[in-house]
Amino acid sequence: MYLNRPILLTIYLKRSIERKINFQYYLCKVMSKNTDELFKNVVSHTKEYGFVFQSSEIYDGLSAVYDYGQLGSELKNNLKTYWWKSMVQLNENIVGIDSAIFMHPKVWKASGHVDGFADPMIDNKDSKKRYRADNLLEDKIVRYIKDGKIEKADKLQTDMEAALSADNLPRLKELIEEHEIVCPVSGTRNWTEVRQFNLMFSTQMGAMAEGSDEVYLRPETAQGIFVNFLNVQKSGRMRIPFGIAQIGKAFRNEVIARQFIMRMREFEQMEMQFFVKPGTEMEWYNHWKDARLKWHLALGTPAEKYRYHDHTKLAHYANAAVDIEFEFPFGFKEVEGIHSRTDFDLSQHENFSGKKLQYFDTAENKNYVPYVIETSIGLDRLFLLTLCNAYEEQDLSNDEKQDSRTVLHLHPCLAPVKAAIFPLTKKDGLPEKAREIMDLLKLDFNLQYDEKDSIGKRYRRQDAIGTPVCITVDHQTLEDNTVTIRHRDSMEQERVHADQLEKIISDLVSWKNLLR
Ligand code: GAP
Repeated sequence: MYLNRPILLTIYLKRSIERKINFQYYLCKVMSKNTDELFKNVVSHTKEYGFVFQSSEIYDGLSAVYDYGQLGSELKNNLKTYWWKSMVQLNENIVGIDSAIFMHPKVWKASGHVDGFADPMIDNKDSKKRYRADNLLEDKIVRYIKDGKIEKADKLQTDMEAALSADNLPRLKELIEEHEIVCPVSGTRNWTEVRQFNLMFSTQMGAMAEGSDEVYLRPETAQGIFVNFLNVQKSGRMRIPFGIAQIGKAFRNEVIARQFIMRMREFEQMEMQFFVKPGTEMEWYNHWKDARLKWHLALGTPAEKYRYHDHTKLAHYANAAVDIEFEFPFGFKEVEGIHSRTDFDLSQHENFSGKKLQYFDTAENKNYVPYVIETSIGLDRLFLLTLCNAYEEQDLSNDEKQDSRTVLHLHPCLAPVKAAIFPLTKKDGLPEKAREIMDLLKLDFNLQYDEKDSIGKRYRRQDAIGTPVCITVDHQTLEDNTVTIRHRDSMEQERVHADQLEKIISDLVSWKNLLR
């Protein structure tokens, strides 16, 4: 029976809600022509304006690795500053550290990453290509939906979820065979068994590969915090409850790289481990769940763009966990996780290192291993979220002319360039006057000077990179030291005295606007 797409989706949506499965993923895959288009435009915009480049592009790129360009690194630094200020500077009981990427190999034994940090993979013997078994099955579900085979899609979804939660690898292989899934490259069904594939990168430490120790590139920054728990607690005379925050690189050998900088092999995390008295962890878990969502919303993002997703299947170390998800053009996806990690990590490190990692609680007059609430946000995902949220293609046409612009409505605190300075023309002393004003402001703000093309074109270039204000120096400036200031979002202009510029820009980009 042929069902048209809206009917099909309504049926599937209803079933999905009944069965509490993630409809959004499939909805996006089936329906997403416009959103695909929008996402493609955002991605090409990031390249065109120097936000993000494919790594090693002149060698055809390195898969799932990206470089941040001249504006991207400014935006990324501003996102880090927002996080660091709100975590470390505004909380007397949270301090920040910067631990090394390399750690003793036993750390990853203790944390469970050597034995348990893996994805279920399957190889096709003909093409020699490797796939994530669950991704092959998900793609089949999408194909069933597209073909109107809703019952089959539904059944496969249920069977796959059951196999994944039971870590039943042979069953995943059976499902791939039962549903006659072929390798997209060779077109054959000549599959290996499904195996767990560890996601950690390893390398050798020391000059000689032979006899040297195998070390890992850290897959999360959190362990650098756990192993320094006592160092920080003692040297900083920290009293529970207290937190340790860190921003740093993490590495995962993701087999399937999807959606641009959403899933990378080298990425950055901003993590905070909050050490609490055992028994109080749920209170703090709820506190951080609430606080972290508020932090996201302070950027002015509409609340409906965010949602919580409680974990039903918990990681080995957690007794509660929730994701904060954002609605990207390709659907709701995790941006941040809040995890109640119990005393798992510190206890494991006690066992593996033979050193005590306990806190002496003077009020209780006893030692204990603290419990931990973790907040963990991916900086690159936050970066993508920020761009997707800010990006707008505006039609400005009226009866007289066709016009449009692409604008990034970035919060002024996050904007890579805070103001642009334009002399109206390249002569009559206007460039000199514009540079004089720029020299006064550039110690405090990141500015751009531009004298090329018409003022209109210069405005458009700044709109496209999210610069909150443009300042134009004209002949009147030479007479009375006033300039025109033009605002990005409203496109309104006002005449102000050049002496006021420092205050106007300061007020606009002050962190107080976000953090108060
Ligand atoms: N310490 C806990 C931890 O690492 P996670 O859920 O695996 O938890 C935390 O990762 C955050 O790191 C995610 O919410 C996501 O934003 C980011 N993240 C994880 N893997 C990533 C990847 N391959 N590429 C980009 N960001 C990633």
